[in-house]
Amino acid sequence: MKKKIIAYNRVEKPVLDELKEKYDVRFFNSPEPINDPAFLEQLKEAEGIIGLELPVNKELLDHAPNLKIVSNVSVGYNNLDLDELKKRNIMATNTPDVLNDTVADTVFGILLAGARRITELDRFVKNGKWQQEAVDPEYFGVDVHHKKIGIIGLGSIGWAIANRAHFGFHMDVLYHTRSRKIAAEETFAATYCALPKLLEESDFVCMMTPLTKETEGMIGLEEFKRMKDTAIFINASRGKTVVEKELIQALQKGEIAGAALDVFENEPIETDSPLLQMENVVTTPHIGSSTHETELKMSKLAAANLEAGLNGKKPQNLIWE
Ligand code: GLV
Repeated sequence: MKKKIIAYNRVEKPVLDELKEKYDVRFFNSPEPINDPAFLEQLKEAEGIIGLELPVNKELLDHAPNLKIVSNVSVGYNNLDLDELKKRNIMATNTPDVLNDTVADTVFGILLAGARRITELDRFVKNGKWQQEAVDPEYFGVDVHHKKIGIIGLGSIGWAIANRAHFGFHMDVLYHTRSRKIAAEETFAATYCALPKLLEESDFVCMMTPLTKETEGMIGLEEFKRMKDTAIFINASRGKTVVEKELIQALQKGEIAGAALDVFENEPIETDSPLLQMENVVTTPHIGSSTHETELKMSKLAAANLEAGLNGKKPQNLIWE
């Protein structure tokens, strides 16, 4: 009999098709699968889960007595209750590294859009304003090259951002992490900073920390007040690393000049969020790693991790040893 696995939310089709040849795969994508009796029924027999952002907590695990491995199709794993998984000896894996350059490209995409007001100018052209009025200097943006970028969280994605900033845009790189990264200082002439100094000096503040108990709500009004009033804040980590209502206040009060956001406290963001009414805020729907090529690489890596775990081998990307 084929082993049962659950695929959730996002696994690229060619990978899903391959898995289906070997396993009894059941696909779900309801926003709250824990309230779906069909999902709970399948969970009883499932030996593996592969997917994106399924909240794997005590309640779910209580319905999954045969589970051996949860394979995330993401580098982030804040959806997993690691203590509960460890307690039950269930493996957990993620998909690091294959997405570094793609997320760094996204960060520069939204950073440039914010600095050069590209999304506003796109609306200006498409709404027929160009024919009616000269481009007001109000629409002129600010330079990115030779400015100062502060990266909070210099993991491997932060590294790819620093690489672009230093070699591509000749920017000064400041960074803040738990431990100093001498290699980044040697490679990018990066400067290690305490958080307040990074916030005070950067023209672009880029949030790249994983979401953990320590980083939840790390950036709030006090931090925004420290930033330059010309600063642009970029978040491509997780929405909950920032106190979103305080980001809104900071933007309303002009504590910072703008924001470029790929992630939000709640996703999808509420349609009545003031952020969606602000011209100086660039928004994308959590697509940092979502190019066709990289999604496929992530799905393939997640499937390899899943299969290793199901077959009693050590997966390449075990989250803990
Ligand atoms: C995307 O947000 C990821 O964690 O891979």
